[in-house]
Amino acid sequence: MLKVGMLGAGFVAHFHSRALESVRGAELSAVYALKGAEELAQFAQNLGIGRPKVCKTVAELVGNCDVVANFAPNYVRIELMAAVADAVRAGAALKGLICEKPLARNLAEGNEVIRLARGLGCPNAYFENQIHMPMLTEARRQLAAVEKSMGAMHLARSAEEHGGPHEPWFWDPTRQGGGVCCDMGCHSLAAGMFMVTPAGQSPDYLTPVSINANMALLKWGKEPWISQLRKRGVDYSKTPAEDYSHVTIALKDPRTGVISRVEAANSWMYDAPGLRLLMEAFGPGYSATANSLQSPAGIFISDSAAAAVADSELALEKSQASRGALVLVPHEADLYGYCAEWRDALRAFEAGKDAMLNLEYGRLITKLTMAAYMSHEKRKTIDLTDAGVNKELETYIPLIQQGKGGQVL
Ligand SMILES: NC(=O)c1ccc[n+]([C@@H]2O[C@H](COP(=O)([O-])OP(=O)(O)OC[C@H]3O[C@@H](n4cnc5c(N)ncnc54)[C@H](O)[C@@H]3O)[C@@H](O)[C@H]2O)c1
Repeated sequence: MLKVGMLGAGFVAHFHSRALESVRGAELSAVYALKGAEELAQFAQNLGIGRPKVCKTVAELVGNCDVVANFAPNYVRIELMAAVADAVRAGAALKGLICEKPLARNLAEGNEVIRLARGLGCPNAYFENQIHMPMLTEARRQLAAVEKSMGAMHLARSAEEHGGPHEPWFWDPTRQGGGVCCDMGCHSLAAGMFMVTPAGQSPDYLTPVSINANMALLKWGKEPWISQLRKRGVDYSKTPAEDYSHVTIALKDPRTGVISRVEAANSWMYDAPGLRLLMEAFGPGYSATANSLQSPAGIFISDSAAAAVADSELALEKSQASRGALVLVPHEADLYGYCAEWRDALRAFEAGKDAMLNLEYGRLITKLTMAAYMSHEKRKTIDLTDAGVNKELETYIPLIQQGKGGQVL
């Protein structure tokens, strides 16, 4: 039984706690967070996934678990990783480290996260749940024989959209790393790449050749939305971020030279029932589609009954309405791949290995995300085979992330 300690006790820590209900061989043993640790500990106890100790320091958490899961915001990645490293240097031993997406806000920070993580002397996992979504992994399994005879997929379209994040720090490009491209584009690029990667090859097998991106601030820079954000402490007239992003990557199979493409589309203006993951992938003579909002379940709440509704986000992530005909997704933690990513990571850690996706894979996704911002800024296709471009990306901080998004949006 591996003991898991969570850094952060917010939205995603609750989602992962629900996932742990469906995972064997792990218990939640410790929580450390600036806010919400007591509530998460109670939530975990109610779920029956452990009786976590609420810790006062990162060192105390590290001393009370085997696996540290970093579920805190992007802007404290390095600070918390350094504290974990200090605790290990002081004598604590870990069997695994988990880091939520994105690995970091930019490549320089990503390199530092990896340096600190590798210094812990334990395996690691980069949590990108969408690659583990049963609706994608099962499609690939069903299509394996067809793929073997016809060849790999050549085009994937991958989209994640909702009406906007839950906490103000996500909207602030200087703290989060950007707008929707940094927050959700990282998912869609990874999921799309997974679909076009030939069966049996590692998730970083394909060589990215070029990237082209277009971003815009379409909704949240206008009234009344901009004023709503200002009330939450985020001023898009001064430090705007993109709420729309469209990225296309060309990838090369290093063995055959065959080119495939991924289109990643993301927005924070999906004024619809709630979060939607929409994917299509096309191979020679076959295809796969997935739509997370096509649930077999629904509920209806009349106007007269609406006052009695429980939190509508209990039925669907980023739910936007609490009455009328609503989509109900019975097991979101499973649908979105959280359960499967835990199973993969814990099995790997027990064997002393990195998970299917490790932090170096997370670095690849951060690099592609940075290249997308660079493409939008320079208004041109970025050649990822160019040594000069690769060098520039190592220290590149997008204008949007610098708080200068007004120049490019
Ligand atoms: N896989 C997914 O689909 C998914 C979904 C949501 C969030 N995430 C990622 O998970 C991470 C957390 O997101 P969230 O939505 O849970 O955020 P959140 O704001 O809801 O919760 C953050 C938690 O971290 C705590 N925290 C903040 N600063 C801290 C510090 N210095 N030390 C200790 N704790 C601190 C907060 O008190 C809070 O408990 C982010 O990196 C985000 O990108 C991933």
